[in-house]
Amino acid sequence: MSSLSSEAVFETDAAEYIDTQTWQEFFLQSGPEGTEVFQQKLKSTVNQLASVLAAEDKPAPTENARQMGEQVALQGEIGLAGIHLEALLQQALPLLVKGAVRVDHPHCAAHLHCPPLIPALAAEIVLTTLNQSMDSWDQAPAATHIEQHMVDWLCDQLGYSTAADGSFTSGGTQSNLMGLLLARDKAMNALQNDSRWVQQQGVINHRFANFKVLCSRTAHFSIAKSCALLGLGAQAVIAVDTDAEGAMDMAALQHELQTLKESQQQVLAIVATAGTTDQGAIDPIDAMATIAQEQGCWLHVDAAYGGALLFSSHRHRLKGIEQADSVTVDFHKMFFQPVSCSALLVKDRQNLAPLCFHADYLSREGDSEPNLVDKSMSTTRRFDALKLWLSFRNLGLKNFTAMVDGLIDLTQAVADLIVERKEFILLSQPSISTVLFRLAPEAWHSDAFHQQLRRHLLQTGQAVIAETRIDGDVCLKLTLLNPCTQIADIDALLDIIINAAEELSAS
Ligand SMILES: Cc1ncc(COP(=O)(O)O)c(C=O)c1O
Repeated sequence: MSSLSSEAVFETDAAEYIDTQTWQEFFLQSGPEGTEVFQQKLKSTVNQLASVLAAEDKPAPTENARQMGEQVALQGEIGLAGIHLEALLQQALPLLVKGAVRVDHPHCAAHLHCPPLIPALAAEIVLTTLNQSMDSWDQAPAATHIEQHMVDWLCDQLGYSTAADGSFTSGGTQSNLMGLLLARDKAMNALQNDSRWVQQQGVINHRFANFKVLCSRTAHFSIAKSCALLGLGAQAVIAVDTDAEGAMDMAALQHELQTLKESQQQVLAIVATAGTTDQGAIDPIDAMATIAQEQGCWLHVDAAYGGALLFSSHRHRLKGIEQADSVTVDFHKMFFQPVSCSALLVKDRQNLAPLCFHADYLSREGDSEPNLVDKSMSTTRRFDALKLWLSFRNLGLKNFTAMVDGLIDLTQAVADLIVERKEFILLSQPSISTVLFRLAPEAWHSDAFHQQLRRHLLQTGQAVIAETRIDGDVCLKLTLLNPCTQIADIDALLDIIINAAEELSAS
């Protein structure tokens, strides 16, 4: 295999250049010959990829950002003569694989970034080969019905009635944006007594400046970003205090609501987080649903991370989620799907109306075929629902439940291990699958040392762990999203962390 060292300059053999004026061999074509070329090239790609994957087992590359940039430049120019695919992949795959963080490695445990299920990878091949586009039925006939079937099933699993609906999106950020957009339009259109006011006039009424969105101070930054993008301004966000575990404090929420009432400001939406990014905290959704109802405002639940608990024995911790007006669920987190795969589900499909616009080339109002563009923020859109459909059907719900339960149990075992080992301090009891900790020895107490340690582990390719802040102090974080990881793997990772800390403090 080619090395990634800086001396490696790739020279393409003359025989590897493509000398053709026809492009048939580059396309999947109908008929046996077209599919034969497709089959041969994809098989060969999978074989090449598998052999490079098998030869490399570090969780992260050892090159720094500058060296990585140089390695990419060494691959050669883009746009000169074409190179045969096999030769090109032989050159590029070592860089791509060695230069990747390996989400399949047990010591890659930093972010909400999962190892993908093999049925979902198989689905990726199918969906990209067929290249259906989810905007209109005539670009995705069967795919449209599979996505709708998947959305209906998810709504049912959530506890919604048949009035519910939703759409697949590119990720939690887009799902949260979509949820808050629907909340904004409902509230502002009601204020103007015009069901399409915002679509036609925009957010130009000065009374709209009074609208506030309440979420916990540990909510994901995409809530503030959504408010900024929606013309409410990030200033519309009221960050409500939390308890020690990072879940919204109900007394603090009541206090903020009272303050808003006194200053005659309006509540546009309350956002509950089901699984905060760092602590995995789950807000009291049921109590928040009651408050949202009293306020007559929208309740959005960001269950990007914790939505997987619906398919676990911890489902009761999401009590009240079925009362939310909209719910974000990310499948590229604890559902083990390749990026990207997410959905926004809504309790009442009528609230999706603001997303419906007319386009002569797509809209066929008189026809019975559904065009999913009518309820999506995107136009051209991937058939990501297929990945989830195939994964659930291949594994079965029982296996999904066992995987999510297993990860929660593993995380608790890791927290216990950290408590047992005198070199670490556990910062809070885990809620889902993250563990927050610091180093115990006094000599290593500083924030700067923890930051340096995380970077050192990454740059030496030993481990990918995360660093965040809890109440202003830097801490280390493990996010456990690999159902194949064993407690012994994490014990070994803790040894690596301590050895690296000793190395660093000695240097
Ligand atoms: C709670 C929560 N919400 C939303 C998001 C955003 O999701 P995405 O990265 O898929 O846009 C994240 C990402 O980690 C998250 O943790």
